[in-house]
Amino acid sequence: MRNRPYVICHMLPSVDGRIVIRGWNLPNATREYERTAATFEADAWIIGRISMEPYAGKARVPRRASPEPIAREDFVAPHEASSYAIAIDPSGKLRWSASDIDGEHVITILTESVSDDYLAFLQAQGVSYLFGGKARIDLPRALAKLRTKFGIKRLLLEGGGKINGSFLAANLIDELSILVGPVADGSTGTPTLFDVAKRRAPARGLRLLSMEKRAGGIVWLRYNVATAAMSAAGRR
Ligand SMILES: NC(=O)c1ccc[n+]([C@@H]2O[C@H](COP(=O)([O-])OP(=O)(O)OC[C@H]3O[C@@H](n4cnc5c(N)ncnc54)[C@H](OP(=O)(O)O)[C@@H]3O)[C@@H](O)[C@H]2O)c1
Repeated sequence: MRNRPYVICHMLPSVDGRIVIRGWNLPNATREYERTAATFEADAWIIGRISMEPYAGKARVPRRASPEPIAREDFVAPHEASSYAIAIDPSGKLRWSASDIDGEHVITILTESVSDDYLAFLQAQGVSYLFGGKARIDLPRALAKLRTKFGIKRLLLEGGGKINGSFLAANLIDELSILVGPVADGSTGTPTLFDVAKRRAPARGLRLLSMEKRAGGIVWLRYNVATAAMSAAGRR
């Protein structure tokens, strides 16, 4: 049996793979994106710290009065929800103002380098947290914890480019679902579907599962992601 959730990367790129949709003027695209996401019946969605900023809030992180250190142990806050909104926030930058997003319980994945003040803040806000590593996030380990501690079996990976690139490089994406918007963006240096830091990730082959024309000139493409990397000789 899998020790991690099945991961579907679900995104809305332009035809040239850019993903910053501001200024695209696609009136129904976000609704189409959410509607399609719902069809996957996932238990949770996960996004990078930058993509989560607009949803998290701007609460103040208070200084603690107590000098007692807080153990680096995973914290599962009391919650009723059975679906989850998850952030990867290695150094604890997100200032959560609530413990849920539209009724979905918030889980944040941290490294052990975060401050005690920040952990106390998360506990007070009722936000669950998991440690993904000491100084950097070990994604397979983090995903295994999401499965065992929260029972998450089906996970939507919803950007941005850096987190998608990290999952791709770690070979943790099972399926790719893209709603290609009728836009030629052309902006260099902006996030793309997969942005892999430092080194080039091995290219992954895709097997087309389905294609569908959607409202507003959007094309929905679904692929399986090959587990084996393509050989360097097969690349141009
Ligand atoms: N069109 C779409 O479908 C779509 C969907 C989602 C997002 N977006 C857009 O994408 C843009 C943001 O993308 P982005 O690539 O700049 O940022 P991102 O992937 O949302 O977040 C990147 C940040 O997340 C943390 N992170 C991600 N992967 C990590 C890993 N493996 N280990 C440790 N930390 C990791 C790091 O936080 P720290 O910097 O704190 O270390 C990193 O800087 C936004 O403009 C958003 O609107 C578009």
